[in-house]
Amino acid sequence: MKAIILAGGKGTRLQPLTNWTNKHLLPVGSYPMICYGVAKLSEAGIKDIAIVTTRTALGDFAEVLGSGSDWGVSIVYRVQEEASGIADALELARPVISSRDKFVVLLGDNLFEQPLTPFAETFEQQEDGAMVLLKEVEDPRRYGVPRLDEETGRILHIDEKPDDPASSYCVTGLYFYHADVFEVIGQMSPSLRGEMEITDVNNYYAHAKRLRYGVIDKWWTDAGTFESLEEAALRLKGTLLQR
Ligand code: G1P
Repeated sequence: MKAIILAGGKGTRLQPLTNWTNKHLLPVGSYPMICYGVAKLSEAGIKDIAIVTTRTALGDFAEVLGSGSDWGVSIVYRVQEEASGIADALELARPVISSRDKFVVLLGDNLFEQPLTPFAETFEQQEDGAMVLLKEVEDPRRYGVPRLDEETGRILHIDEKPDDPASSYCVTGLYFYHADVFEVIGQMSPSLRGEMEITDVNNYYAHAKRLRYGVIDKWWTDAGTFESLEEAALRLKGTLLQR
């Protein structure tokens, strides 16, 4: 299975820090943030990685990660010229995915303690559609929140950052797709804020009853706010990543 790490964006919630540095290169514990995602995928045997980032940050990513050989993986880079949404960034990885591939998409600011191998194995068996990972959280309102059909193990709908969450779960930034996702993205239009939203992609599968989920129970955060970046730094302080 291949992986795409999305590591572009403006990092608005971490300004002014991100006026000078890409969010995913900020220090968390002993490493730049991006290294945790690369190490987590490598640990799960996912060795072919495409990183989508911005023109200005590309050189710094290459300096930190190079070809990926330090981490036992092979990395290629794609440039997103404008920050126009997660689904739009994903579209840039299309040339590295062939029509029969299954692959995983990781938002680069999502940090997982949980090993990903069992979920990748489950998705290898899934005949079509997509799969997302959920985590129960205290306040789901700043995330995508799923409405679940627990009997069938499917998601019926995802509300993005709802005021009144339908469940106590949030959709983490880890998504499994087949290559048909690029056709789904091709049919989408930008949202009201002018971006191609990953939740719209996932809702396409949810409404077609083709979106499955796995639940993680170990520590997870997205490190996209000052609060969560600090939490991640404390939690991962002193952690040495496997290379
Ligand atoms: C994105 C997704 C959201 C998801 C979150 C996880 O939100 O849109 O559904 O819960 O990542 O990190 P963002 O952090 O880009 O606002």
